[in-house]
Amino acid sequence: MPEKSFHNIAVIPGDLNGITVTEAALKLSEAVKGKLSKPIKHSRFDYNADYFLKHGLKELGNKELDELKKFDQIFLGAIGDPTKMKPGILEVGILLKLRQAFDQYVNLRPVALPEGVSSILIGKTSKEINFEICRENSEGLYVDAGWIEKKGTEEEAGYQIMKCTYKGVKRLAKYAEERAFARKKGEKPTLHFVFKTNVLTYAGSPWQRVFDEYKDRKDLTAKYMHIDNFLMQMLLKPEQFDEVLTENMFGDIATDAGAVIQGGIGSAVSGNINPTGEFPSMFEPIHGTAPDKWYEINSNGECIPGTFVKEKVQQVKPEAAFLSYAMMLEQLGELKAAKAIQQAALENIRDPNYKTKTLDELVKKACDFAGR
Ligand code: IPM
Ligand code: MN
Repeated sequence: MPEKSFHNIAVIPGDLNGITVTEAALKLSEAVKGKLSKPIKHSRFDYNADYFLKHGLKELGNKELDELKKFDQIFLGAIGDPTKMKPGILEVGILLKLRQAFDQYVNLRPVALPEGVSSILIGKTSKEINFEICRENSEGLYVDAGWIEKKGTEEEAGYQIMKCTYKGVKRLAKYAEERAFARKKGEKPTLHFVFKTNVLTYAGSPWQRVFDEYKDRKDLTAKYMHIDNFLMQMLLKPEQFDEVLTENMFGDIATDAGAVIQGGIGSAVSGNINPTGEFPSMFEPIHGTAPDKWYEINSNGECIPGTFVKEKVQQVKPEAAFLSYAMMLEQLGELKAAKAIQQAALENIRDPNYKTKTLDELVKKACDFAGR
């Protein structure tokens, strides 16, 4: 098949501030178009709370999956609108569904403090906080399997299955290894396998087995750490980490803590990667659609529909979306444009007045900087 003359990107803005940050990222994309080897065509899909309500959906179906499958990559803003839909449905029905259906088995989440930005970890700089977490993204505790016994009685018990497979851990380790070598450029990289083999002995078996295959390697250093220790070490001595691989839920939790030590949610990036290229990968900033306080809350603590305070949109920080978009460009081989966006986003985050800058100011500054 002849190579296409453009990059074909599906854009799912999602809900509320997901739409806001997506629009910001698309403006920045426009600003760097002179740096691309071929143009990008964005096609928008409004898979969000309104769409699910209108079509009575619980999850994306074959129609939507067949549609999205045709694209090179997917860019996603953020989903969820508690004023319209109970939290949980869209997360499972869109995010987890796409990760599974498109076998995006790596969730790549860099933890990198931008130069010149201070961390809540005193004395740690961009030199010390610079590693990557490869979160297993297709199995683990998120396979959505389990059962409930004696529901509604005193004896009610819920079971949730953590499924870890040898093939699943092995392919993740292979990806992490390749990333580690690419990042270290000739130096010997360290690969940390993070699990909880002392207690989760069944699901831990494939993790132990793959680690054992790595532990005597001479070209890299493979280490094992329990997740509880890893979380402490991440705060105490983040400089010991290069490339970390871990189970789905452990990675979910660890990367939120990672987002905080790299300067707050401004720069938390996430790529749901299908390394084989058989299906599109999906890139998304790690943040919600809006803080609760942006809605009026009723006496039961629930959000009141339609009370989203639009003026607050100017407080939104678009940099995680910018950096996720840049990660997508990297995967497309558009390194020059990716770099321009990364530098523009970091320039924003480094600004001493970053916190008080409006969204419009940040978008404009980034477009001017990246477009130079
Ligand atoms: C994330 C989110 C999702 C996850 C939720 C919303 C399903 O927390 O991307 O980290 O757990 O993966
Ligand atoms: Mn999460």
